[in-house]
Parts: sequence; structure tokens; C-alpha cells
Amino acid sequence: MSFHNITVAIAKGRIMKGSQSLWKQTGLPWPVDEDSRQLWFRPQDDHPGVLIARARDIPTLVGMGIADLGIVGLDVLEEYSNTHVLQVADLDFAHCRVVLAGQNEHWPVGPTRIATKYQRITQNYFSVHRHPVEIVHLSGSLELAPVIGLAPYIVDIVDTGNTLRQHHLIEIVTILKSSARLIANQSHWRTKPGLEQLRQVLHRV
Ligand code: ATP
Ligand code: PRP
Repeated sequence: MSFHNITVAIAKGRIMKGSQSLWKQTGLPWPVDEDSRQLWFRPQDDHPGVLIARARDIPTLVGMGIADLGIVGLDVLEEYSNTHVLQVADLDFAHCRVVLAGQNEHWPVGPTRIATKYQRITQNYFSVHRHPVEIVHLSGSLELAPVIGLAPYIVDIVDTGNTLRQHHLIEIVTILKSSARLIANQSHWRTKPGLEQLRQVLHRV
């Protein structure tokens, strides 16, 4: 099967490392040269091309059809997805959880402030629970927020729990279980040859 017309958008960092080992397990050659500054690796022979982008931009690139497929954490997908994107496989790596954490194990009493980079996920979660919250958007280092008095609670990613423990924070509730997902442009998925076949190659390893 030729995947020559297919472009996959992949985020740097953990998702790229996991994607690279997935690629190797499938026998597909990994086209990315990590030593170069290049961000677009065009399809070679029968193999798909790869675009490298920021995680939060992957749903936009796939939704607009710039890439046919994308690999992104479910956390990012829930936060930044759009109606032109379909989730087509759970790739079973980059496992983590989006949790509410604070300085004790108790659910907040009354209106409270929450620091997070997941504004949509946090807003939706607390709306469902009819609990008023003020969301403070930070891009990283969330665990600092309670320590410096910015917000008593955070919504952030947890894997081993080490980062929370180091900041004397306690997990209160899991909001979302996440892993890497393969996403597709909705109309390309219906019309473009090879996408389902590439999904099977990536999903079956
Ligand atoms: P950016 O640098 O663009 O802000 P990021 O810091 O979220 O992105 P990574 O830390 O590489 O990028 O995380 C990529 C994805 O891996 C996340 O969206 C999440 O799904 C998952 N992830 C994040 N932290 C962990 C972790 N500690 N353990 C396992 N998976 C994680
Ligand atoms: C992520 C996340 C937490 C940490 C959780 O940070 O934001 O801080 O991992 O993992 P743990 O439960 O295993 O300690 P990352 O290492 O990606 O750094 P970041 O602050 O740049 O996102």
C-alpha cells in the first residue's frame, strides 16, 4: 500500500518520542531528523510525510486539512478539538490523567480559583457540577500556583504523582484519563485512499 499522499502532524516532546517508537515497530521508516531544525518531512517513496508542530495546534492543522492525520494526547484533543476532526484510534502510549489537585484532599467549598492550562476541560467539568470557579490560565509550572498563593487548586497532568508530591499537593479527583490518539480530517477520512490502511498499521502493533 502506498502512503505517499499522506501527511501526519505530530507534536514535539513525549508524543514525538512515542510516535517514533510506534513507527519503528510497524517497520515504517521514521522520516524525522531530530538533529535538524526542519519541521516538514515530505513523503519519501511510499511512506507518509510528517509535520512537526505544537501539541495544541495539531487539531487545527488536521481540522483544516493541512495534515490528513495527527497524533495528540486526548487531553489536548478535548481542549483544542474542532468539528472537522475525528478520533480514529487510541495509540496506547503517553498515558496520564488530568486531575484536580489541592493542598488537601477535599473538594472545594464555595466559589474558588483554579489555575490550569486546560481552560475548556476545567470549565466544562465544573459547569457539569454546577460549581462556580474562576479559572487562571497558566501555560506550565502549574504546581507553583498553590505554593505562591495564586490559586488554591490546579487542574493538571499527573502520571507518577511525583511532581504533585514534591509540591505537597494532593489529588482530589480524576477529570480525564488520557493517552495518545490518532486523529483524522473528517472529509479526508471519507475520501482519501490509504488513511484507514495507515490507521490499521499504526493501531495493530
Ligand atoms: P507544549 O510543550 O506544547 O506545552 P506539552 O508540555 O504538553 O506541550 P509534553 O510534555 O511532551 O508536551 O506532553 C505531550 C502529551 O503527553 C500531553 O498532551 C499528555 O497527553 C502527555 N503527558 C504530559 N505529561 C505527561 C507525563 N508526565 N507522563 C505521561 N504523559 C504525559
Ligand atoms: C508534566 C505535567 C506535570 C508532570 C506530571 O510536566 O505538567 O507537571 O508532567 O508527571 P508526574 O506525575 O509523573 O510527576 P512536564 O514534565 O511535561 O513539564 P511541563 O511543566 O513543561 O509541562
